[in-house]
Formats: sequence, structure tokens, C-alpha cells
Amino acid sequence: MDQFLNDLPKAELHLHLEGSLEPELLFALGERNAVELPYASIEQLREAYDFGNLQDFLDLYYQGAAVLQTEQDFYDLTWAYIERCKAENILHIEPFFDPQTHTDRGIPFATAINGISRALEQAETAYGISSGLIMCFLRHLSEDAAFETLQQAEPYLDKIIGIGLDSSEKGHPPAKFERVFAKARAMGLLAVAHAGEEGPAQNVIDALDILKVDRIDHGVRAIDDPELIQRLAREEIALTVCPLSNTRLKVFDDMSQHNILQMLEQGVKVTVNSDDPAYFGGYLTENFIALEKGLGMTREQAVELARNSFEYSFANKERKAEML
Ligand code: ADE
Ligand code: ZN
Repeated sequence: MDQFLNDLPKAELHLHLEGSLEPELLFALGERNAVELPYASIEQLREAYDFGNLQDFLDLYYQGAAVLQTEQDFYDLTWAYIERCKAENILHIEPFFDPQTHTDRGIPFATAINGISRALEQAETAYGISSGLIMCFLRHLSEDAAFETLQQAEPYLDKIIGIGLDSSEKGHPPAKFERVFAKARAMGLLAVAHAGEEGPAQNVIDALDILKVDRIDHGVRAIDDPELIQRLAREEIALTVCPLSNTRLKVFDDMSQHNILQMLEQGVKVTVNSDDPAYFGGYLTENFIALEKGLGMTREQAVELARNSFEYSFANKERKAEML
């Protein structure tokens, strides 16, 4: 089954590039850029990856991103992820990056996006892996800061397919970003948002009705609202679910408690994703394997989940037809 899941053609729609920064690369870049790290060894850093909740993780994730300084660093980060995709038969990716995590440290927007884009272009030419890059606003920062980021993105709109919303969900509801999402959509960008990860089902409803997103990231708390579950199924609003992330961040106590297959059986268009694999102990295939081991996912369910990842991707019709 493990080999079947690895070889199954898949797309990944919820992956933070900064969350694919493996401790080995983090240390190597720290050395290359003379960034002091508060850990004596790679092992000590890995030991710190023991999280009680989303905020515990975010604190380490933003700290880790500080080693990313040059365009080459962003290229190396992205290319390492693409090599994983190649090994796991991932045909299409829609990765996230958090520009504000870098611009707030004085790293130009151009440095991040040029390094990432160069790797994504090479993924297409070298491996035939197609992609659409999504830039996320940090929801713990202000809407004005998000507007500023959107302005910085304007010269690079040919390199970005959409916008997203991530970071601390509690205390930062979707409505805070209503105007900036409206502006981005008017510019022709697609929209997604993290909602219903640690926050309530109402955040999923508000992301749909106020931010008018095309897809929901996580969305697992939608289960608390049966009417919302029916709506998601009826309107074919896909959820990008991240099983290992949810157990590592204690959204569910144990994989046996996870609701992804329950939602699948209720007709919700769920997909499997790895979120921040360097921090949560596994890339996409490992997430599928965890569902088999923890929830008894069948081959048929795995195939349906993988099909959803193509069907609800932002790839164009022709590319979808090739992959499906
Ligand atoms: N940024 C990176 N991973 C995230 C997650 N799982 N939730 C919110 N923000 C994030
Ligand atoms: Zn995420």
C-alpha cells in the first residue's frame, strides 16, 4: 500500500514553502549567511518540534525562516521541495509563500519571488511538474500591511495565481481582510484562506461569504455545522486538509479521531496535503500513509482524494484533463 500511495499521481494544494525548510538546510543556510541559531545541533532543533498548538509552531516557523536571505536561498528551498514532489509522483503543486515574513526582515519581495519562481519554472521544464504560486497575507498583521504587500506584488502578477491568508486564526477572523481580498480579486487573482483549523466553523462561512474564496485551507471545524457541510458538498467547495499537521498541532488528539474520511463520505471535496512537512514529520505520501494506518483509508478512497486534488486545483482545463 505504501508504494501504491507513493506512486499514485497526485497534486498538492496546501504547502507552505517556508514549512518545507528541513533542519539540515536550515543549518546549512544559517552557516552560509552567518545567521546565529539558538540550537547547538540539528538534533536539538528537531527536538524542539513538539507543539501544543498552532502558535507554538508558528513561533519556531518564523524563527526558522530568518536563515532565508538571498534569491539562491529561496531557490534552494523550493528546489528541495520539488525533488520530493518528483520522488512522490506529484504532478502539480500550488505552494504558498509568506512575503511579509521576509519583507519585515528587510528582504525585498523580489528576492523571495524571483528565487521561488526560478525553481518552479525549472520544475516544469525538467520534470513536467506544473504549478501556481499563492502568496499569503499574515493575518496577525494589519489589513494595511496586506495592502502594502499586494502593491509590492503588482510587478510580479504573472508569477502569482492567487492570494491566501495564514498565521494565527484565533483573534484574526476573515472579516479583517475583506477589502484587500476584494481588491486582489478585482486584479484577477484567485483566493484561498486558512479557516476552521483552530477557529470555528463560522470562519469557514465568513471566508466564503466575505472574502469570497475559491477554496478553504483546512476547514476541518466545518464538521461542527451540519448545514455548512451540506453547503460545501452542494457547492463543491474544496477543502485542503492536512492530516499530520492537524495531529501535530493538536487539532485532533490522534489520527483515529480525524474527520477527513467522514467528510469525504458526506460528499465534501476534500484533498490531502502536507502543510509544513519539515515540521510535522512527513510529506504528501506520508500523509496518505497516516490516513491508511490511522483511519483505514482504502485504495478507492485514496484514488478519490487524489482525483479531487486535480479536479479542484487551479490548473487550466487542458492540464486537468492530462492529469485526471
Ligand atoms: N502557516 C504555516 N502553516 C500554517 C498553518 N497550519 N496554519 C496557519 N498558518 C500557517
Ligand atoms: Zn497551512
